[in-house]
Amino acid sequence: MQAACGACHSLAQVTNAGHDRDQWNTVLHMMINVGAPLPQDKFDTVLNYLVAHFPPTPRPEARIVPGRADVTIKEWVVPTLGSRPHDPMYAPDGSVWYTGQMANVLGRFDPKTETFKEYKLPPKSGPHGLVADKDGNAWYTANFAAYIGKLNPKTGKVTKYPMPDSKARDPHTPIFDGPDRIFFTVQGANMVGRLNLRTGEIKLVTSPTPRSNPYGMVINSKGIPYFVEFGANKIASIDPETLDIHEYVLPHGDSRPRRVAIASDDVIYYSDYSRGYLGRFDTKTGAMTEWPSPGGPKSQPYGITIANGIVWYSESNTKPNTIVRFDPKTEKFQTWAIPSGGGVVRNMVHTPDGSALWIACSGMNRIGEVQIRGAKISQKNRVKN
Ligand code: HEC
Repeated sequence: MQAACGACHSLAQVTNAGHDRDQWNTVLHMMINVGAPLPQDKFDTVLNYLVAHFPPTPRPEARIVPGRADVTIKEWVVPTLGSRPHDPMYAPDGSVWYTGQMANVLGRFDPKTETFKEYKLPPKSGPHGLVADKDGNAWYTANFAAYIGKLNPKTGKVTKYPMPDSKARDPHTPIFDGPDRIFFTVQGANMVGRLNLRTGEIKLVTSPTPRSNPYGMVINSKGIPYFVEFGANKIASIDPETLDIHEYVLPHGDSRPRRVAIASDDVIYYSDYSRGYLGRFDTKTGAMTEWPSPGGPKSQPYGITIANGIVWYSESNTKPNTIVRFDPKTEKFQTWAIPSGGGVVRNMVHTPDGSALWIACSGMNRIGEVQIRGAKISQKNRVKN
């Protein structure tokens, strides 16, 4: 194990983890996919060793809160073992995409035929976030290879936009602010950036707070990007032209906001991963509010979105992981267990009419659909995310 597992990260990454046999099996396939030198004839030895010595770590039981909303959760296993489906995307043609970060593919799923197609990316790209343009191209951040890529699904051709600064090694979450520009966070490099699609030019700026880990990002109705700092208790806005950053400090010093969603009235909701809270930040008044997540302080709220004015997110550390519904009007929560256990839902999106969420279940090698029954499809409440 020392020979196979120490090259890219410290062995503590392995010894601090705790999994059952299925999960360790998935982890080993992920690591082999990214190049871990584990020969086939040593696979079972290493797997048995990990299962025996690093059993599942204690996790809080999911708290299932009943309520009046009704959802159905369906999941599909993606084609390549150890893909680590990271982020999902809903394309204009109704197909659902995901980044297979460890298998180095973008996956396309057709919900009508329930079939997958995988697109191979340039070696060691490590695709992470992805967004669709109006022509149906898939734009992704290459988290292991410091570029933003465009995949044309008709031809399979990839166009690369490399980071202009070698320090910007890990582009993370991309988002369009219109047809011509993508804003993105660069987590480990502590930067945010802007790619102009017409000129191909990329501009980068460093976050004012050292090691602030710029993470999830949204754009408000006036075209201002906001991102959350997973390494600090801060939310920040970016001037879309000058790229000046303005930070807002959250009330609790231990907060670590990880993902973020924005409602049509420019109110931001964020998952406070470290404290197990759902947070709210009104970008117009500056008001901040928070609610403890149903699964408690160790529930690790993560992927989040807003559909038809309702906040949806997942608790990524409860056993099993949950889908949480929060109604801002009544301030009431409702929760459901994810059938497979979830294996950490790192991001989620919703369909344009708000009738379904799509989730990527990274450690379970699945994508899933959360059908929201009776979801009101009102044009007025439609939000983009
Ligand atoms: C070729 C590089 C490489 C090698 C060798 C490697 N890993 Fe990893 N490992 C990674 C990367 C990349 C990640 C993901 C880091 C991230 O995105 O958080 C990772 C993450 C992990 C995680 C956390 C998983 C998760 O989903 O958060 C565990 C556990 C792990 N590795 C175990 C192992 C074991 C066991 C071995 C030996 C069989 C190994 N690694 C060898 C690259 C490697």
